[in-house]
Amino acid sequence: MEIIYVKDYDEMSEMGFQVIKEVIETKESPVVSLNTGGTPKGLYKYLVEAINQGLNINDTTILSLDEYIGPKDAVYTVKNYMHKRLIDLVNQKPKNIFLMDGDTQDTDEEIKRYKELLAKYPRDIQLLGLGTNAHLGANEPGTPFDTMMFLAQHHESTIQATMREYGIDREEAPTEMLTLGLKEIAEAKNVLLLASGKHKAQAVKNLVEGEITPDCPASILRDCKNATIIVDEEAASLLSKK
Ligand code: PGA
Repeated sequence: MEIIYVKDYDEMSEMGFQVIKEVIETKESPVVSLNTGGTPKGLYKYLVEAINQGLNINDTTILSLDEYIGPKDAVYTVKNYMHKRLIDLVNQKPKNIFLMDGDTQDTDEEIKRYKELLAKYPRDIQLLGLGTNAHLGANEPGTPFDTMMFLAQHHESTIQATMREYGIDREEAPTEMLTLGLKEIAEAKNVLLLASGKHKAQAVKNLVEGEITPDCPASILRDCKNATIIVDEEAASLLSKK
């Protein structure tokens, strides 16, 4: 795993964007799997700007890391986020956009459908955030490293984070999510994790310096040659070596 240290949120966003841009520019039919949350908002701003200035995405396939179980039009869905922060803002159409359906009656069938897409479109890059409890996607602490796409139950800290992010109350907040498993996450050709802010410092420390264990899902990345993490000063503030 490579660690890139940057100053702040904006530098992290710009650097993360550059990595995604390079994939889009250099791969023949790029496959980019994206995430949501507070962390990548800045990256998407850079990406939208670049696409609208001519970065060609006509051959790019977009996949998603996860999706909340809930009504399609709920404020918190990944679908909503992707449209609001990327898809509806650009003047070009990607080749494919394959998001998960969290409104399905049959999650097993949806998992089967999405796994077939993953097999057909090997990911050039998987973008990730980091939970304050070091989760990746909805792989909460305790999830085995060999887990494949599944219907995950959120831990309380994740539910609270969703409530804060979208200004919704407990009853409205989703408690389950379809998510790529840790095994699939680590299998992408490149894995890029972004972390910014003091509230991520302990998770970053566990990821970089703690034990490699399912209790810290992100620690799966430590031994991955294809993984890069970009951390800002606050997120790196508890590391003993920099
Ligand atoms: P955040 O979420 O980007 O909103 O901090 C990260 C995550 O929970 O994976």
